[in-house]
Amino acid sequence: MAGSTAKPLEPRLLAVAGEIRAETYADIGADHALLPCYLLQTGRVRRVIVVEKSRGPWENARRALRGLPAEVRLGDGLAPLAPGEVEVLSLCGMGARRMVRILSAHPERLPSRIVLQPNDAAEPLRRWALEAGFALSNEQMVPGFWYYTVLTFVRGSLSPAAAYQGLPREVALRYGPLLLAQRHPLLRGELERRRAYLRRLPPVERVRLEQAYLEQALALWDA
Ligand SMILES: C[S@@+](CC[C@H](N)C(=O)[O-])C[C@H]1O[C@@H](n2cnc3c(N)ncnc32)[C@H](O)[C@@H]1O
Repeated sequence: MAGSTAKPLEPRLLAVAGEIRAETYADIGADHALLPCYLLQTGRVRRVIVVEKSRGPWENARRALRGLPAEVRLGDGLAPLAPGEVEVLSLCGMGARRMVRILSAHPERLPSRIVLQPNDAAEPLRRWALEAGFALSNEQMVPGFWYYTVLTFVRGSLSPAAAYQGLPREVALRYGPLLLAQRHPLLRGELERRRAYLRRLPPVERVRLEQAYLEQALALWDA
């Protein structure tokens, strides 16, 4: 974009940015709009629609995007978007369950490519995608304040169950089918840390169940 320099992004948002190229793209819950600004300034997208639920973040986004080909709408989730209006959608930096509520509220407004960066466990999003007919096309683990997962879902080109083939389904839903298939080194470290933590807890049913899933996941590295 003429006359503007893209600010460096933190690794989690950089990982999301690498998954996005579009004419028109929407970011739901953008706050300071760092990601949409970066995408516009690096030419990865031509036009942005930001949706913000709260007035303060809506004003932050308006300020950040002033002078850029962007529209900042005040509203809840996908409600202010028309069906087919954007090609790619992102939601970053919020809880996975909140994301599922937003994505489920207006299925007819979802584009065929969605990039998600939850701040907690991604399992509810993997479950949502299977139900909604979206396939996981990429899964990244990114260091930051903690390890973030960045998930890219597509509809139409891949079978939603494809990523899960050959893996124990419940284990893959919890820890990530593509991360497990890659034997991702950061995931292995995380699973080992979790194993050590669970061993210090009283062996109640919930802990024993998680331990069983965790051991199945770790066994994949030795298979
Ligand atoms: C923690 S900030 C994340 C900002 C940015 N996406 C990032 O990752 O750095 C979450 C933002 O989501 C917005 N938000 C939460 N629920 C929303 C909803 N249903 N619709 C639109 N925005 C929402 C909040 O107002 C807040 O600005």
